[in-house]
Amino acid sequence: VPALEQEAENATISQGVVESNHAGFSGTGFVNYDNVIGSSVEYTINADSGGEHDLTFRYANGTTIDRPVSVTLDGAGAQTVSFPGTGAWTTWQTRTLKVTLHAGSNKIKATATTANGGPNADKLTAVLTGPADNEAP
Ligand code: GCU
Repeated sequence: VPALEQEAENATISQGVVESNHAGFSGTGFVNYDNVIGSSVEYTINADSGGEHDLTFRYANGTTIDRPVSVTLDGAGAQTVSFPGTGAWTTWQTRTLKVTLHAGSNKIKATATTANGGPNADKLTAVLTGPADNEAP
């Protein structure tokens, strides 16, 4: 099963900046969310097939306080994902949730829900885990 992914630094960023001062990221950097409610990163995943996918967010949080975000698909179906401390800004971990994607372009937006903003965001990877659904909508 092919993994589909997008680097956070190539996603659509609102209230955040691309940085590269903490080692261990993939690609050319990571997104440092502004420390405000509502800062966001919107990823585009072009799925080969519709169906249930594991969405895996790679992140770092050098604090001891969770940085939860609200994740939507094409603006709907909000699910909260917790990003607890990883011990250091150079220690990168992953959090995964299941989402049913559709074939083609899927907009996955991760929006900070606390005044601390989101964690430092490295990339999003999607892997099909259920049966492929290629029926026309
Ligand atoms: C530090 C760290 C940043 C991080 C920020 C934060 O400034 O260097 O990479 O984004 O804390 O708390 O959000």
